[in-house]
Amino acid sequence: MKIGIGNDHTAVELKNEILKHLISRGFEVVNYGTDEVSSYNYALAGETVSNAVVKGDVDCGICICGTGIGISIACNKVNGIRACVCSEPFSAKLSKQHNNSNILCFGARVVGSELAKMIVDEWLDATYEGGRHAERVQTIMDIQDRNC
Ligand code: RB5
Repeated sequence: MKIGIGNDHTAVELKNEILKHLISRGFEVVNYGTDEVSSYNYALAGETVSNAVVKGDVDCGICICGTGIGISIACNKVNGIRACVCSEPFSAKLSKQHNNSNILCFGARVVGSELAKMIVDEWLDATYEGGRHAERVQTIMDIQDRNC
C-alpha cells in the first residue's frame, strides 16, 4: 500500500517519526509535506495529499498540522475525500470501519509520537465494514455532489 503524507511547519518532526514508522511497517510513503520549519500553509499540504488520493497516486493519506483541524478542513474541500481528525486510536479505527475515511489527520501540538503511531496503526489495520454504513457514507457523498 502507498501512503501520501502531508504536514505544515508545526509537524515536521512528527511527520518524520511517522514516516520512519510507516517505512518500518513495509509501506511505501510519498512525502508531500514541508521539511522546513518556516511557516507553511497547512491548507496547501492538505490539498496536495487529497489530490494524490483522489487521482489514485496513493491509496490513502495522513495529514498533520498543529491541531489536525485546519488541514482536515482543507482536505474535505476536495471532492471524494473523507478526512477525519483523530486524537486517539478508537476514533481512528471507527473512522475507517464506519466512515470509510481515506485521510487520517491529527495534531502535532495535540498528540505525542507514540500515541500518533498507535492512532496510525489502528487506522491502517482497520477495514471499512460497508453494510449498514454504506448508505450513510453514500449520503455524505451525495451531499457533496448536491452542493458543489
Ligand atoms: C499553525 O500555527 C496552526 O494554525 C496550524 O498548524 C493548525 O493548527 C491549523 O489548524
